[in-house]
Amino acid sequence: MNFIQYEQKDAVAVLTISREKALNALNSEVLTEMESTIDAIDLETVRCLIITGAGQKSFVAGADIGEMSTLSKADGEAFGKKGNDVFRKIETLPIPVIAAVNGFALGGGCELSMSCDIRLAAENAVFGQPETGLGITPGFGGTQRLARLIPVGKAKEMIYAGTKIKADEALALGLVNAVYSSEELLPAAEKLAGKIARNAPIAVRACKKAVNDGLEASMDEALVIEEKLFGSCFETEDQINGMKAFLAKEKPAPFVN
Ligand code: HXC
Repeated sequence: MNFIQYEQKDAVAVLTISREKALNALNSEVLTEMESTIDAIDLETVRCLIITGAGQKSFVAGADIGEMSTLSKADGEAFGKKGNDVFRKIETLPIPVIAAVNGFALGGGCELSMSCDIRLAAENAVFGQPETGLGITPGFGGTQRLARLIPVGKAKEMIYAGTKIKADEALALGLVNAVYSSEELLPAAEKLAGKIARNAPIAVRACKKAVNDGLEASMDEALVIEEKLFGSCFETEDQINGMKAFLAKEKPAPFVN
C-alpha cells in the first residue's frame, strides 16, 4: 500500500489516509487502496474502525483536483461512482466507523467523514463542499448526506455558496459529536471505539443496521426492521450473559460474539 496505513490494536482498527504532501487528497489509487483495505478487515476480531488522515493539517482535502481536471463526462461519472461505492461500503460496514477529523475535510473529505457513523473533530477541522467553485457538484454523496445530517437550508448554503464551517460550528450543527485538541483527537476516538468494542458485538451491529436501514424506510417498516434485529439478539451468548449478570447484580463477563 502506498497511501493507506492500517493498524489493529485489540478490537479497534485505525485506517489512516497517508498522502500528506497533497493534504491526503483522494486520487483513484487512494480510493482503490482504501477499498481493498476495508475488504480485508477481519470482522471476526475488529469491533470498531477509526478513519483519519496523516499529519495534523488535513483529514482529506478532497478528491484529487489534478486527476479530475481532464476527465470526460463519462469518466467523471465513473470517478463519482468509484468514490460512492467505497463510501457506501464504509457506511454499510457491519461494525461502527468513527471519523477522527484532524483538519481539512473538504469536498470528498467532508463526504468521507459523513459516510462514517460518528465524527469527532480536532479544533482546526474545517468542513466544506467547495465543488461549485471548481465547476462541479459534490460527487461522493455530499448532496445527499449533508442534507440528511444538518438542517437542509444550511446544507444548501454550504453546497451552493461553498461556505466552510469550523469545528465549533460543526459541533453546534450536530455534524460532529465532540471537538478536541489535535493531540487529544486520536486518543479520544480510540477511547470511544474501545467503549463501543466492549459492548455486545451482535447487538452493536444490529443497532447500526437498525438505525441505517430504518432511516431509509417508513416508520412502520422501520419498526419491523427493529423488531427483527431486536429478536435476533435473543438466545445469543451475550444476551444471556448480559441479562444474567444484571439480575445477579454482577458485571457481565466480557462479551464474545
Ligand atoms: C489535489 C490538493 C488538493 C486536492 C490540496 N492539494 N488539496 N491536490 N487535490 N483536493 C495539494 C496542493 O495542490 C498542494 O500541492 C498541497 O496539497 C498543499 O496545499 P496548499 O494549497 O499549498 O495548502 P494551503 O495553502 O494550506 O491550503 C489548504 C487548502 C487548499 C485550503 C485545503 O489546498 C485547498 O483549497 N485545496 C482544495 C480543496 C477543495 O477544493 N476540495 C474539493 C475538491 S473537489 P503542491 O504540490 O502545490 O505543494 C472534490 C469532489 C469530490 O472533492 C467528488 C468527486 C466525484
